[in-house]
Amino acid sequence: MKIAIVGAGYQGLVTGTCLAENGHQVMCMDHDAARVALLNDGGMPLHEPGLEELITRNMEEERLCFTTDLDRVVADSLMVFLCVGTPVDEAGRADVSGVLTATRQIASVMNSYRIIVNKSTCPPGTAEQMDATVRAHTTHPCDIVVNPDFMKEGTAVDDFLRPDRVIAGCDDVRVQEIMKELYSPFLRTGKPFITMSRRSAEMAKYATNVMLAARISLMNQLADICEAYDCDIAEVREAVATDYRIGPTFLFPGVGFGGAGLPRDLATCEGLARDRGVEYDLIAAVREVNERRRDRFLQRICDYYGATIGDKRLAVWGASFKARTDDLRGGPAIHVIDGLCAAGAMVTVYDPVASQKLKERYGDKILIAAKYYEALNGADGLIIMTEWNEFRRPDYERMGKLMREKVIFDGRNLYTPAVMARQGFQYFSVGRKAVSPGHNNPENQDEN
Ligand SMILES: NC(=O)c1ccc[n+]([C@@H]2O[C@H](COP(=O)([O-])OP(=O)(O)OC[C@H]3O[C@@H](n4cnc5c(N)ncnc54)[C@H](O)[C@@H]3O)[C@@H](O)[C@H]2O)c1
Repeated sequence: MKIAIVGAGYQGLVTGTCLAENGHQVMCMDHDAARVALLNDGGMPLHEPGLEELITRNMEEERLCFTTDLDRVVADSLMVFLCVGTPVDEAGRADVSGVLTATRQIASVMNSYRIIVNKSTCPPGTAEQMDATVRAHTTHPCDIVVNPDFMKEGTAVDDFLRPDRVIAGCDDVRVQEIMKELYSPFLRTGKPFITMSRRSAEMAKYATNVMLAARISLMNQLADICEAYDCDIAEVREAVATDYRIGPTFLFPGVGFGGAGLPRDLATCEGLARDRGVEYDLIAAVREVNERRRDRFLQRICDYYGATIGDKRLAVWGASFKARTDDLRGGPAIHVIDGLCAAGAMVTVYDPVASQKLKERYGDKILIAAKYYEALNGADGLIIMTEWNEFRRPDYERMGKLMREKVIFDGRNLYTPAVMARQGFQYFSVGRKAVSPGHNNPENQDEN
């Protein structure tokens, strides 16, 4: 089938490429000419594991192409996937103007019946607004399907190829069948294809993200209680995660969640509730706990150095909001780096894939290390913000020799406190008692 994708960001690139990988003829359109040129030259505007190889292969096989020409992609395709951004404003209202603009542009160039599949995250009722927009700009018939996506940056390709479920919000049985047929190669292991009303499908994405965010904030508050009572949140987590009613995912305590999705979807959900006079205090609390999390982590670092922080060289490992992506949006690392710079510290950041985005954001304001040990040269402390695998088992002796002061603030609990104490580090982590050099917690003897 010929398929058009409008918006070649994280969502659009993964969707278009995975559909091409299944043999479809996919044209990805983006109005950002520089992005399209980069993709056509074999470059990548973002880091997503496995994506570049798939793009290259499908471009070589002539199943995937990139263009700024909307007329061409819409003229040739029965299905048009909408993958444009939906930011949230100060009042927590999702800004769907990008979605409606793209809908208008598509409608204006339609030459016959089309199915617009909306993968952008939008509040309930948006599909109806899209219907009205289409009707205002074309007389050709058009069905709008709500097809929320649950991919996670860092594992997005795998998530698309092997989804937990596919949701199609639409009432028309024929359109449901077309969607089911399109997605059936990805659901061969028996994962469900679920149809529902468009409004429910729109809400499903917010509900899922709010639930996931709640688990993280709850775990982070439990971590604080553990710390106050000298319990170890890693041990507590094991007990909680093995309860089948709860399960193991999204239970790692840390510096809080970030990214473009969870914070925005929480804020939007609050806005939706507020607009209709529905209670939303639990959802607001999930967001507030998360926002305070990064503040408190930053405060802990500032308190440790006190008035001398302006003379300190601090190394930061990890800048992306999570491992395996270069996405800095909404990440706790950005908040902490900004705070350290504002306090006058000299900050050197190492991230395996986000250097370019760091350069664009910070210019000369921070130093960007090319290797992770390089960031530690003369450092008065190391701050770990992202759980990249390469940070998990470093050479502690080498670290100690490079650093001026052996202090680690670990926002991701990568190391064992007792081991760090034996290695001569002052070590602060999350939900576990801080340890000092030589201090050996007899209850926690396992080696890293
Ligand atoms: N990033 C994720 O992991 C993820 C996961 C699930 C759902 N989503 C949803 O997918 C949507 C897109 O998110 P994203 O992260 O890919 O955003 P993004 O900002 O990375 O990409 C959006 C792209 O759309 C292009 N664009 C905007 N308006 C356009 C128009 N009128 N015509 C052509 N191109 C246009 C932009 O130039 C940009 O390249 C959002 O609603 C998001 O909630 C994203």
